[in-house]
Amino acid sequence: MSSAEIAALLRWYGTSRRRLPWRERPSPYRVWVSEIMLQQTQVATALPYYRRFLRRFPSLRALARASERDVLGHWAGLGYYARARSLRRAAREVLSRHRGRLPSDPDSLRGLPGIGRYTAAAVSSIAFGRHHALADGNVARVLSRFLLLEGRAGSARLDARVWEAAHEAMAAGRSMGSARFHPGDWNQSLMELGALVCLPQSPLCGDCPWIRRCAAFRAGKQETVPAPKRALAAVRVPMTALLVRRSEELLLTRRPGTERLLSGHWALPEPKQLPRARRGRLLGTVRHSITRHRIVLQVREGFLEDGPLPAGAIWVSRKRLDAFLVSSLWRKAVAFRQR
Ligand code: ADE
Repeated sequence: MSSAEIAALLRWYGTSRRRLPWRERPSPYRVWVSEIMLQQTQVATALPYYRRFLRRFPSLRALARASERDVLGHWAGLGYYARARSLRRAAREVLSRHRGRLPSDPDSLRGLPGIGRYTAAAVSSIAFGRHHALADGNVARVLSRFLLLEGRAGSARLDARVWEAAHEAMAAGRSMGSARFHPGDWNQSLMELGALVCLPQSPLCGDCPWIRRCAAFRAGKQETVPAPKRALAAVRVPMTALLVRRSEELLLTRRPGTERLLSGHWALPEPKQLPRARRGRLLGTVRHSITRHRIVLQVREGFLEDGPLPAGAIWVSRKRLDAFLVSSLWRKAVAFRQR
């Protein structure tokens, strides 16, 4: 990639980028939280969560001191809750192992929970101005079109080519000097072009600063490169949950850590967790997708026999349910209680 091409994209980024909180007021902590949220969530969806999360946990110290339940409560609705648990654990490790300062080099960052190759390079370049290349889905699409790289989206073959191209572009940028090239802006300009212009379907090539240089556009292949992923087949997951009431309280249990979905979450109990409970009528059915799992949850009334509560079960008042039930699957399920 030439310095003229790099400069053209950086100019476009300067005028066309979205003004986002971690861009306008960057700090290592704020950039890190944004990158974890954006791993599986689009910017527009993540923004209100990001603002709320940063109000409640304005610093790494505040996050490290919070309970896991508090952190999960502020992640509720975003999905992929392992991200929130890892974020809190990583904050605690940074306090104990790095004296409260997030490390700037990718190797140390990758030693922290929840931080892989992409996130380490993103934090290192955006928050610390280090010259580390990266590629996420948006960057892969941009570079594979610009350079007409072959391979299916998300395939190991295309990923290897894209990361290599990203490294080469970063090296070319570095030789332009720090007055003309900031590695974090460069990485974000590739992401931003992918998010706003170089769209998966119907890319807006008329708005692209690289239209004359793009190999896919010149070949008329901008709509077909990269070749789409093979879709993973959906998996149907039937589940039953019991709604056990005691005046204004509901019985909750924690899902075992061995469950494939929502492990460790507080939830409505499943019949196998309450072997002595009697089942009543069907209150309703909730449909909810997690990755490729299509959950069909039947919510039934449940009645406990007199006697001690099963191990790990607790009564939670209706007012406090939101603090326990993080996934919208359970929030939809408890809505049946009023009917
Ligand atoms: N996706 C992941 N990181 C991002 C960032 N910093 N800006 C925009 N989109 C992103």
